[in-house]
Amino acid sequence: MYYPDEKVEEVLRANNIVDVVGTYVHLQKKGANYFGLCPFHNEKSPSFSVSEPKQMFYCFGCGAGGNAATFLMKYENYSFQEALQTLADRAGIKLPEVNYSEEAKKREEKRQLLRAVNKEAAVYYYKLLRSQKGIKGLRYLAQRKLDAATMRDFGLGYADGSGNDLCAHLRSKGFSDDVILEAGVAAFDEKRGMHDKFWNRVIFPIMDVRGQVIGFGGRVMGDAKPKYLNSPETEIFDKSRNLYGLHIAKRSKAPYKILCEGYMDVISMHQAGFHEAVASLGTSFTEGQAALLKRYTGQVLLAYDSDGAGVRAALRSIGILKKAGIEGKVIDLRPQKDPDEFIKENGKDAFLERIKNAENSFFFELRMMQREYSMDDPAQRTQFHHAIAAKLCAIEDEIERNNYLAEAARRYYVDEGSLRRLVASYGRSGSAQTVWNSGAEPSSAAPEPAKKRPSRLTKEDRIEQNEKLLMTWLADEPEIFPQIAPYLRPEHFHEGVARQAAQGYWKILEEQGGGNPASVIGMFESQQEQEMAAAMFNTRLKGLTDTREREKALKDIVISIRKAAAEREKKQFEEGMQEPSAQMLSKMLSTKKELQALGKINFTLRQTTA
Ligand code: UTP
Ligand code: MN
Repeated sequence: MYYPDEKVEEVLRANNIVDVVGTYVHLQKKGANYFGLCPFHNEKSPSFSVSEPKQMFYCFGCGAGGNAATFLMKYENYSFQEALQTLADRAGIKLPEVNYSEEAKKREEKRQLLRAVNKEAAVYYYKLLRSQKGIKGLRYLAQRKLDAATMRDFGLGYADGSGNDLCAHLRSKGFSDDVILEAGVAAFDEKRGMHDKFWNRVIFPIMDVRGQVIGFGGRVMGDAKPKYLNSPETEIFDKSRNLYGLHIAKRSKAPYKILCEGYMDVISMHQAGFHEAVASLGTSFTEGQAALLKRYTGQVLLAYDSDGAGVRAALRSIGILKKAGIEGKVIDLRPQKDPDEFIKENGKDAFLERIKNAENSFFFELRMMQREYSMDDPAQRTQFHHAIAAKLCAIEDEIERNNYLAEAARRYYVDEGSLRRLVASYGRSGSAQTVWNSGAEPSSAAPEPAKKRPSRLTKEDRIEQNEKLLMTWLADEPEIFPQIAPYLRPEHFHEGVARQAAQGYWKILEEQGGGNPASVIGMFESQQEQEMAAAMFNTRLKGLTDTREREKALKDIVISIRKAAAEREKKQFEEGMQEPSAQMLSKMLSTKKELQALGKINFTLRQTTA
């Protein structure tokens, strides 16, 4: 994409794949090829081969294969550019400058500086823990039963009570105050001036997937509050797109990853031999983190706290995992509170047993749902059975749905035939009928079979679906753009791939009046995001042919996206994430006006359309 083919070829020719792979995998020559244990799946006898003449690798066990760049992309999770850069560096070849804009170049320089500050700070904390001044920290970590190797693996460190030593140290290394502040390791206030962010805490460096330090968590060594202090988000520290421990867990060959809540949980599990553990970063689990996990695994076991908050968080995460196409299971840690305590109390074999018995997320959800109904009351029991049917409706795959249906009927003593008919009455007849093919949800004239028809799509799903429908519509009939543009802007799409894709396509619509959305897909680097972006241009409303109806549907879609954006805006405002500024208020006012105007207009569509 970025480099000419000849350059790519030159780089590949200059690197012998046997050497490249050989630094990661122990290879032995057998006949014409080299063999070793496959790093991409678990195996006891070598089926992973490397051919020197072909300059390719191939695994007869799992089918992984490719050239030296592919190997690095798979193993290190590099993008193609990164893999090529690595190979070029190895061979001493200079790649042509990628044509970054001036702005992009500055940004990259800034990111490098921030990384350097974080790295220097990590080294500083690391050494301090192991020095005279670090005794208190070491004692605390030892009391939490961490051994020296574990502390080393996670780069644990210590900030003493001095209040300014790190700043002084970083200055002595030539970093400016601005950069130190921006890296989040120092803060500024009127009273104290510039001062170290962390003091009198044990330090957990937070690393990105490549093992580069991007931030820190610091824990008090007693009961003071807050228990953990974390670096603020910076240009290189996005809490919603990184996971604690992933740089280690990515190498684990277990067919699943374990997602937990705390840094200490990850570390404890690692020490007990469960190297596949990761945790979110002091905030709740996000779609971005799910997308990140998806690169490494299709199955995630949740090891959340066993208290009420942990259960709620687990239910939330299950939904996010499902959306990312990851199978979720739940590990029961009772009577202990979290994995750290469980392992300390019961040991690793007992934990392995709990992993083996992890509960399927669907039945976990049902079990939690059941708590809200009193089962000896026939009316409530009926409601619960209806709720089961509603959940079954959400399963698209017919075979899968039937399997769950049979099992749910067995577990909850419902007659299977009745449950099946109930599900069918909600619209999953077992034939391939999907919710969206039956009409536009907002204007849908679909008859309501029962008073309380459960919605099969969550609100978020519906918003997402509407955004996709609109983008596809714009791609199919770009001439409608001028009618839409006054009411809808990319910022009204929900954050993430959707908004970015909208930004990209809006630009094409504004500059060229429409065109190929393929370049929008090219804006995304990961396969996952590319697929998500592609879906934005391939979601059509089916079954609406009448022009009036289509016009109404389009209007409903635009209104619903706009309303969702307004709601988000309002929520941000209420949660105080944004200062209630005059600007904010006027924004909300203009939103209101635009929504009112939108209610009054009608879109006009061509008579004949696809
Ligand atoms: P927990 O309160 O469950 O802590 O918070 P823990 O992991 O069991 O910690 P220990 O065992 O008492 O040391 C889980 C995660 O929530 C974030 C941290 O990321 C923590 O690992 N957290 C918690 C904060 O960011 N700040 C806090 O004050 C508390
Ligand atoms: Mn804990």
